[in-house]
Amino acid sequence: MDTLIEARGLCVRRGGRTVFDGVDLLLAAGERLFVLGPCGAGKSTLLHALLGFVPLAGGSVRLLGRLCSSEAEFAPLRGVVGLLFQDPADQLFGPTVLEDAEFGPLNQGLGRAAARERAWAALHRVGIQMLAERPVHELSGGEQRLAALAGVLAMQPAVLLLDEPTAALDQASAQRIAAVLEACGVPMVVAAHDEALVARLATRCQRLGGPVDPLC
Ligand SMILES: Nc1ncnc2c1ncn2[C@@H]1O[C@H](COP(=O)(O)OP(=O)(O)OP(=O)(O)O)[C@@H](O)[C@H]1O
Ligand SMILES: [Mg+2]
Repeated sequence: MDTLIEARGLCVRRGGRTVFDGVDLLLAAGERLFVLGPCGAGKSTLLHALLGFVPLAGGSVRLLGRLCSSEAEFAPLRGVVGLLFQDPADQLFGPTVLEDAEFGPLNQGLGRAAARERAWAALHRVGIQMLAERPVHELSGGEQRLAALAGVLAMQPAVLLLDEPTAALDQASAQRIAAVLEACGVPMVVAAHDEALVARLATRCQRLGGPVDPLC
């Protein structure tokens, strides 16, 4: 089986404390791996570390067979490995939903018409075609999450890293997203608290430790 992500012995320190140390994460073709754990366990940090967005204090990351440690090594793989941020505000920059979804394909070198086609297809898949002309800063939290997901899918990634993809969504939208993710056939690592999503999609789960927040 092809190994798409091979992370070994990861250690991240932030704000003077160790978030996690000695974490391995492997993703093979055909897998939907869920990373579970309480608030603050480091799930988002782990996803960010896999794409070089937070510095490693130890360990190694291999993406699609390529060992990545420098910005120059990670940068070309961002998009091929698509990351949905936990906070859509970190992802969306608009101006409109359609233009935002076009940005990734344009950045990948597609022409205007092809990028627009990809963006429209992604909006339809996520079920937000009616939001195409809306400025991203005017969207609700759930609408923002759907727009951000459309932007990631428009890049047709080979691997998905999804940080709480159904947070803040109503039940119908959450079920639609689960169906889209199930049908897309793309291997993925998902950080989630949504037990229904885990039950429906996970082919394997991995738990991160950390402090337990009784409110989560
Ligand atoms: N920019 C930062 N500077 C310092 N510490 C940070 C920073 N970002 C996150 N942390 C800390 O890293 C730890 C892990 O945070 P992270 O967001 O990865 O947790 P999480 O498991 O995704 O939590 P949640 O379930 O709430 O999304 C937390 O203790 C957090 O305070
Ligand atoms: Mg998180």
